[in-house]
Amino acid sequence: MNNWVEITMKLNGKTVSCRVKPSSLLIDLLRDEFKLKGAKPGCLEGECGACAVIIDGNAINSCMYLAINAEGKEVTTIEGLGSDDNLLDAVQEKMLSHGAVQCGFCSTGVAMSIKAYSEKMKALGIKPTREEIKKTLEGHLCRCTGYIKIIDAAEAVFEEGSEM
Ligand code: FES
Ligand code: FES
Repeated sequence: MNNWVEITMKLNGKTVSCRVKPSSLLIDLLRDEFKLKGAKPGCLEGECGACAVIIDGNAINSCMYLAINAEGKEVTTIEGLGSDDNLLDAVQEKMLSHGAVQCGFCSTGVAMSIKAYSEKMKALGIKPTREEIKKTLEGHLCRCTGYIKIIDAAEAVFEEGSEM
């Protein structure tokens, strides 16, 4: 029962292997084993989006995702955005320049969702409407910003689609 299983995944661009219990959650693996604290434990019930990471191109709540299912997947956390030279990703820049970050608790999850969505839309050559952006970010709870600045920031990412 609950035997450890070895998994291998690509985490922030690097291939890593580790042992997990079948019941381990990805958020715990990221935070405890890999010390990547960007995915925040908010509700731990799939309701707030603070723990979102990108798995194979999709923003996923890591508190609802079994670590074992990350086997063979590409996982990106907020620590994997931007460049090795400490340059921010366009999503992070827009969130900062639009005042979309206040206490910051929701911000990493929001950034990962905007990033995944912008990459997908870019690949399809689609520039989403403000309403579509709003709908995409519905799974994120923010107690500070009133959401408008977050939507503004996301919209600005699409305004400069060539940066993504
Ligand atoms: S902590 Fe995962 S959705 Fe809230
Ligand atoms: S910036 Fe504080 S919860 Fe969103």
